[in-house]
Amino acid sequence: MLRRLGSSLLASHIAGRRMMSQQNLTGKVAIVTASTDGIGLAAARALGQRGAHVVVSSRRKENVEKAVALLQSERIQVTGTICNVGKSEDRERLVEMTVEQCGGVDIFISNAAVNPFFGNIMDSTEQVWDKILDVNVKAAFLMTKLVVPHMESRGGGSVVFVSSIAGYQPMPALGPYSVSKTALLGLTRALAPELASSNIRVNCVAPGVIKTRFSSAIWQNEDIVDEFKKQLCIKRLGDPQDVGGVIAFLCSEDASYITGETITVTGGMNCRL
Ligand SMILES: NC(=O)c1ccc[n+]([C@@H]2O[C@H](COP(=O)([O-])OP(=O)(O)OC[C@H]3O[C@@H](n4cnc5c(N)ncnc54)[C@H](OP(=O)(O)O)[C@@H]3O)[C@@H](O)[C@H]2O)c1
Repeated sequence: MLRRLGSSLLASHIAGRRMMSQQNLTGKVAIVTASTDGIGLAAARALGQRGAHVVVSSRRKENVEKAVALLQSERIQVTGTICNVGKSEDRERLVEMTVEQCGGVDIFISNAAVNPFFGNIMDSTEQVWDKILDVNVKAAFLMTKLVVPHMESRGGGSVVFVSSIAGYQPMPALGPYSVSKTALLGLTRALAPELASSNIRVNCVAPGVIKTRFSSAIWQNEDIVDEFKKQLCIKRLGDPQDVGGVIAFLCSEDASYITGETITVTGGMNCRL
């Protein structure tokens, strides 16, 4: 009898912890850049489902309005605004608005990236490099610099950069983009030790091929998909929610001892030890 009571108490304790762990972002405020579609939207949804108030943004007003309406219909606490991460005034407005309307910032997901160039890296121009590095790397750092003081004033926080498997192994025809994604692996490692004393963890995800508009040139071509699938253990391309859940995990208490780390989300693409 006593043993049965003991094991049922243990079971309810574990179930309680599991529920808490699933809801453990209640009261947190999360900024996710480029979050009106694809991986950013999936990250916002995953954070919101775990109780965070999410701030979504992208360049186009109609996309922001659509994403806000969608997440609201899923009972997620959400605020939206326009933000092109390549513009300093937009970055500042996003952070100011978040602090004013939501009371602070606890979580920052740097997801925005562009790729204006396909081809041999030796044919890429200075203009291409400026655009790619400005949006994919500099803006990721400058946004982090803006949010960190607000995280510090709340006792800590969590930053996640969205890199790519191309950051480990440059993809054919995507040289400059791949290099920008390698830089994010370095940025993660450079920031983590410096921000640990402020109780801010800095991590990164490196997705493989995920079915979004950004990667449509890959997944709309059956020959390329077949070639990619040969490299995968899980024989399907990824969905945005495959990445969103990992991002939410990295921001949760379950990941409280993880910093400076990159998690690949690739279906087992055989690319690193
Ligand atoms: N899909 C993949 O296979 C894959 C693989 C590895 C890594 N990634 C990375 O995942 C991230 C998201 O890609 P995705 O595939 O989810 O793309 P996506 O589905 O095409 O969505 C892109 C989002 O970014 C917004 N956006 C584009 N440029 C922006 C800018 N300058 N400032 C702010 N928002 C901007 C878009 O909205 P607006 O048009 O309204 O701005 C949209 O909400 C990127 O960092 C990408 O490099 C993707």
